[in-house]
Amino acid sequence: MCGIVGIVALSDIIREPIGRIIRRCLERLEYRGYDSAGIAVIEGSKLVVKKGKGKIQELAKKLEFDHTHGIVGIGHTRWATHGKPSDENAHPHVDCTGTIAVVHNGIISNYLELRHELESKGHVFKSETDTEVIAHLVEEYLRQGLPVFEAFKRAVARLEGTYAIAMITTLEPGKIFFARLTSPLVIGVGDGLKLVASDIPAVLEYTNRVIVLRDGEIGYVTPTEIYIEHNGKPVDWKQRVRVITWSLDMASKGGYPHFMLKEIHEQPLALVNTLSGIEISQIKEVCKLIESADRIFITGAGTSYHAGLVAEYLLVELAGVDVHTFIASEYRKFLNLADDGDVLIAISQSGETIDTLMAVRAFKTRGCRIIAISNVVDSTIPRESDIAVYTRAGPEIGVAATKTFTTQIAVLTVISLVLARERGMLRPDEYNFLMSQLQEVPKLVETIIRMHEPKCQVLAKYLKDKTNVYYLGRGLGVPIAMEGALKLKEIAYIHAEAYPAGESKHGPIALVETGYPVVFTVLDDYYVDAIVGNVMEMKARDAFTIALVPRKYVTKFGKLCDFVFEMPNIDYRLSPIPYIVPLQLLAYHTSVLRGLDPDKPRNLAKTVTVE
Ligand code: M6R
Repeated sequence: MCGIVGIVALSDIIREPIGRIIRRCLERLEYRGYDSAGIAVIEGSKLVVKKGKGKIQELAKKLEFDHTHGIVGIGHTRWATHGKPSDENAHPHVDCTGTIAVVHNGIISNYLELRHELESKGHVFKSETDTEVIAHLVEEYLRQGLPVFEAFKRAVARLEGTYAIAMITTLEPGKIFFARLTSPLVIGVGDGLKLVASDIPAVLEYTNRVIVLRDGEIGYVTPTEIYIEHNGKPVDWKQRVRVITWSLDMASKGGYPHFMLKEIHEQPLALVNTLSGIEISQIKEVCKLIESADRIFITGAGTSYHAGLVAEYLLVELAGVDVHTFIASEYRKFLNLADDGDVLIAISQSGETIDTLMAVRAFKTRGCRIIAISNVVDSTIPRESDIAVYTRAGPEIGVAATKTFTTQIAVLTVISLVLARERGMLRPDEYNFLMSQLQEVPKLVETIIRMHEPKCQVLAKYLKDKTNVYYLGRGLGVPIAMEGALKLKEIAYIHAEAYPAGESKHGPIALVETGYPVVFTVLDDYYVDAIVGNVMEMKARDAFTIALVPRKYVTKFGKLCDFVFEMPNIDYRLSPIPYIVPLQLLAYHTSVLRGLDPDKPRNLAKTVTVE
């Protein structure tokens, strides 16, 4: 995830250097990415680009953003996906002639093909990014004699993936060209001034009138004009101008009261970006390493450990490999077993968690090869690993991990499926079916949020006064129960424990009395009868039972439980992602009803860098 902005204004409207305006807009988008930043402005007839690795404030000082003058400019704050954070990879990117500058948020999934095609025509690339192809594509169509907007449209039509783009060029210096597919983009509608931006907070200082662009829309703005097309036809946008009444603080959370809620709602997009950003050639490399290993270890801390438990289940069940998963700080448990024939998969959203890093370093001394799964490009753990696979969830600000958990599972599911296919454990038709169901998961998550958030709010009223909750599951339902319990514990401060449901009779049930909440995660047909038995045992002790069950079992569980969440009837091996979503929402709403701040739970830090 990145933040983009563009501004074009009449010269008598603009009362300060445009570079300073762009810098302030970018600061409001910094939550979308902060590893590098840059601006491009047309000064007189010249395109001036200032960009680099680092935080906006430091770069603005070093590169003198505030002393850049003009009436049109664009800016970018980056969250690296393709290419590590560096001066070259920072946006804006320019074409060979230095007259076109582009900023982009999203992932161009066919960029390698486009880059090879353009290089064969003589274009010279300066960065490793997917974005740079856009500038060269436009240049290429201009070379063929097309007017700028036509060249821009032709270029955008060649792109696959997700994008919000803003482009300026000295050839038409009073315009910003834009396009949107999946990644968000809004237009700020001022008098004698127009802005384009990834999010509303960036424009609010200059106008409170915005148009939220829709997928497939493309066009340009001048200080006094807005032109939008969809499928080649002009769009009548006048009825779509919204007046924003939020405060600036609310706006930086996209209108959500907390980052955590925003990040839960961002999961469909984070999943689309992660799934579309996966390079199958890299996954095959990962599979080759796993295939050649004697033993596979998986490690992580907290939520990342839970993603590891899901991966263990999938790798064993789908691909039939031998896996040992351990909590990172307990790495010594398996260290003596590890040798140079083994592989360690280290999962860490931040890539900096000290316990996971220590495990990585210790296993490396034994000769193990390391595969990192991380959300932060070029962070320490991926840097010290043999292969790094990145999730593309964008920055997570809330302390509780939400979208980074589901995107970790998305990556680990793809690895398990590809490995299972390569090992002949899945037939091609089974593999294709599961892969295509996986692509549907982001949409399912969207529906689950819509359907179940109101129910979570009702249930939160019941939970808010409780002191203990059990989360019970079987099979793949166990790590989901563990993650659900962790969420409630860390942000609502309610004691929550997870167990394999079969364990409940071996001790935990002793605590159960009237009204004790017990949440069941039911993913797999195989365990339905056993879980029905566990629910009955809890009911016999007057527990308050809540179950997440596939649609086909709603009637069955509806008769037994006090509260049922209907979940999609998809293959249970793809269910961990959808199943965690209601549990995240439940924890969030319980926290809020208890008057707590879910974004900053007491005693916790987003990244734990001390042992
Ligand atoms: O950055 P990491 O994934 O390595 O962080 C590991 C844990 O500290 C983290 O998952 C923590 O448990 C979550 N914030 C809980 O929501």
